[in-house]
Amino acid sequence: MEHECTCSTKFADVDDLRPLEEIIERYGSEKGALIPLLQEAQDAYGYLDEKIMREIAKRAGYQFSQVFGVATFFAQFRLKPIGEYLIKVCHGTACHVAGATQITDEVANQLGIKEGETTPDNKFTLESVMCLGACALAPIMVVGDDTHGKLKPTSIKKVLKHYAGPSGSQASEGDDAE
Ligand code: FES
Repeated sequence: MEHECTCSTKFADVDDLRPLEEIIERYGSEKGALIPLLQEAQDAYGYLDEKIMREIAKRAGYQFSQVFGVATFFAQFRLKPIGEYLIKVCHGTACHVAGATQITDEVANQLGIKEGETTPDNKFTLESVMCLGACALAPIMVVGDDTHGKLKPTSIKKVLKHYAGPSGSQASEGDDAE
């Protein structure tokens, strides 16, 4: 498989409020839209900075405590910036049975970080997620926009190596199921 730079990491700077304005405009004064609004804001900025949450509260008519409460309640929301590549290791039932814990352990070991952390060079962030909908390929992990399936702990080093170079310079050699 040819790896191209499909990294979804071209996030907006939190000082640039234009993406947020567009998102809020789309939802207007629709109440009950806080969760999708936060999801889109996270997609745009990579995480929910306090500044972004305060702007959402101000512009969409919520109390900051409401916005913060939702953002901290749901595990899907991140309050800290992520690295260039977000690594999501699936821990759904099929992946768990197929050894997801060993996959997370090996990724953490290779990168020298724990789950939820980002490498000091801001290259990788490691997260656990629930079923990604590709159970036949268990255990799987997603790196940026690429899915790697039927993983073994021994294959992790090679997978990570594809992404370890300068931005957008992944090796073209593929090794795992897509
Ligand atoms: S359990 Fe991992 S993809 Fe479904």
